[in-house]
Amino acid sequence: MSMFDKNLEGLRQKNLLRKICDRGAIPSGKDPSKILISGIEYVNFASNDYLGLAGRIELAEAAKKAIDTYGAGAGASRLLAGGTEIHNELERSIAEFKATEAALLFNSGYTANISAIPALAGEDCTIFSDELNHASIVDGCRLSRAKKIIYRHTDTEHLSGLLEQSKGEKIVITETVFSMDGDIAPIADLLRLCKDHKALLYLDDAHGTGVLGEGRGTLKHFGIEPDSSIIQMGTFSKALGSLGAFIAGDKAVIDWLVNTARGFIFSTALPASVVAASLAAIGLIRSDKRLIERLRTNRACLFDGLKQLGFDTMKSETPIIPLNTGSIENSLSLSQQLSDQGIYAPAIRPPTVPTPRLRLTVTAAHTGSDMEKLLSALKEWQSAKK
Ligand SMILES: Cc1ncc(COP(=O)(O)O)c(C=O)c1O
Repeated sequence: MSMFDKNLEGLRQKNLLRKICDRGAIPSGKDPSKILISGIEYVNFASNDYLGLAGRIELAEAAKKAIDTYGAGAGASRLLAGGTEIHNELERSIAEFKATEAALLFNSGYTANISAIPALAGEDCTIFSDELNHASIVDGCRLSRAKKIIYRHTDTEHLSGLLEQSKGEKIVITETVFSMDGDIAPIADLLRLCKDHKALLYLDDAHGTGVLGEGRGTLKHFGIEPDSSIIQMGTFSKALGSLGAFIAGDKAVIDWLVNTARGFIFSTALPASVVAASLAAIGLIRSDKRLIERLRTNRACLFDGLKQLGFDTMKSETPIIPLNTGSIENSLSLSQQLSDQGIYAPAIRPPTVPTPRLRLTVTAAHTGSDMEKLLSALKEWQSAKK
């Protein structure tokens, strides 16, 4: 038995072994709230495609047209002519959408965080990072030569004390909508603290973009005007139904990233097809206000139903709704029972989160009967446990 076999066996015994799960092809026009896994159709309560855009014909057509024009691959990094006019157009569109001077594309949200954070926080800087920040932020902090300080989740009093004791350059990093908990960071308070302590505020708006503030994200949701102390990161891979990410901020920040962010400099550009799909998604969000309205209504409906059943939804305020099940075993058994009834909602376990849970996500594509099906399966699980 190799060292890896032994380690894998250790994970299996602790119920922590992960498996890749592939989905089947979605025939065009099929209901985006459904997912096909090993030939079985499930109602999908695990997708980050909050607006149901990933399968939309408008995105596919834009991507196909870009492939016909520019080919399948980019062939080189942006600095070596891997980009196209579509890349520039998406950056202009994001800068407008986020009300910033400029924006820069990255190949994924993970790449954006592990590239931008070390570029922005050099060795004379101190990073203050929320304890529940996403793994890509954690890894970005690890790659940075800055000093790192972790503050308690959304605890501005704790952060304030830590900022007080620190000298030199500072950057506070937080998710806006926390990806596993669905709560929203206290952005106005964080910004006030940053201003008091002359710190930059880096916002990972992966789950706010397309969801909050008429799709423009969490700053807009709170009515906060972006300024030079704020750097906004966001992804195209979630509510925008495509792939890739961006940093939006002052032109000087973006120019600095072009010159120093290693995941931007040393990586092939996104293919034009993917970029064109993201542009189409922004177009849809701008033109069809009903998309976000449907997401809001569905979220309220499912959340009320879960509350009526007495579920602990932790601090969820968004379409990400965790169910605190109390143990890894409960999470796995609930997920299995839902799966047996045609509902896809995987258990999320440590080390991804400190508390095992079911992470439900509700989207604009879910129907009333999808949500009823989930609620009645959850009720059955509760009755069987009594
Ligand atoms: C908060 C947050 N940031 C960054 C990422 C990474 O984004 P991507 O999937 O585009 O790499 C994720 C993805 O799960 C996320 O939840």
